[in-house]
Parts: sequence; structure tokens; C-alpha cells
Amino acid sequence: MDASDIRSDLSDVLYTADEIQQRLDDMAAQIERDYDGRELLLVGVLNGALMVMADLSRTLTRHCEMDWMAISSYGSGTQSSGVVRILKDLNTDLAGRHVLVVEDIVDTGLTLAYLIQNLKSRNPASLEVMAMFRKPDALNSPVTVKYVGFDLPNEFVVGYGLDYAGRYRNLRDVGTLSPHVYS
Ligand code: XMP
Ligand code: MG
Repeated sequence: MDASDIRSDLSDVLYTADEIQQRLDDMAAQIERDYDGRELLLVGVLNGALMVMADLSRTLTRHCEMDWMAISSYGSGTQSSGVVRILKDLNTDLAGRHVLVVEDIVDTGLTLAYLIQNLKSRNPASLEVMAMFRKPDALNSPVTVKYVGFDLPNEFVVGYGLDYAGRYRNLRDVGTLSPHVYS
């Protein structure tokens, strides 16, 4: 669905589907340059990264492999719990692989810090992170996101894979919710 389908649920549209795809075109070009001559394994973090994984991988004009992890983060609320648990692990052995973690959004970076530490212990040849969105608190995190789509203000957003209480993942655009949705 598009923002126009659920206009009363949204207070603002921050990025449209077209703007997201345009940014992905640039990011994919940069990733192609950086990984020239190297096999690339994209690791998507479920559930939020499903849209960015699908779009980034198809925007690339080269081969890549894809695998998925699921880790617990927010539950259905809007505050980072700091509690991270692996719900679904990778099927792929990372030893010697060039791994690019594909994330929807980095907020405090707590989730990502845990994930990176965990993946590093599996001895990949290289390990970098791509995130479609980044919030201001991420700048205090020890983990550097090499490829950032857009920097967001410190507001809860939905769409393009990001949910509130399980909904809005299938919104093509990214926006903030109207107060009435929370109450
Ligand atoms: P941390 O704080 O660990 O959080 O970097 C990362 C995870 O939290 C979720 N998250 C959001 N989900 N709208 C969402 O729907 C948001 O604005 C938002 N901010 C953080 C998300 O699962 C992310 O992977
Ligand atoms: Mg996520």
C-alpha cells in the first residue's frame, strides 16, 4: 500500500518509495565498486529488513547470495529493550566470506552491536553494515554503519518493512504515525 491508502494513519511522509529507490540506486553502485572481484553475502535481519533486502539485492547488477537472521528487538512497543536473542540463525558458514549485514534501521545500535560481535566470531573475511535508515543515537554506538540510506530524526517511523504492532510493514513509503494510532 501507499501513503495515500492510509492517509489518516500518518502524520508525515518522510521518504516516498521513489526517493528510497533512488537512494538505493546510489548505494548499490557504491557497493558494486567496493566489492568488485569479491563474492558478496548479504545477511538480512528479519523481519524489518525484508523490503530493503529485496530491493537492494535486485538493484545490484552483479551476483550475490542472501541469508537471514531473526533477532528479538522491540516486541510491539517503541522503545529499545537492549535484550537481544537469536530467534533464527544463518544457514551459511561465514568463515572466509565477505558479509554485508542489511538492516532496516539503526536506532541505539544495541541490536547491531550484539549482532556484529556474534558474526565476527564466525571469522568472515570482511564484515560491513548497510542500513536504510539511521537515527541520531546511532552515532554514540561503537558500530559504524558503512552504507547509510537516510538519517532520520529521533521519531518512531513505519513503512518499508518497519512496523508498529505488526502493521505498516507493507507501506511502500516511510512516515510517522498520527497520535490516534497509538491510543
Ligand atoms: P536499536 O536501538 O537496537 O534498535 O538500534 C534497532 C531495531 O529497533 C527497531 N526500531 C524501529 N522499528 N520504527 C520501527 O518500526 C522505528 O522508528 C524504529 N527504530 C528502531 C528495528 O527493529 C531495529 O532493527
Ligand atoms: Mg530490525
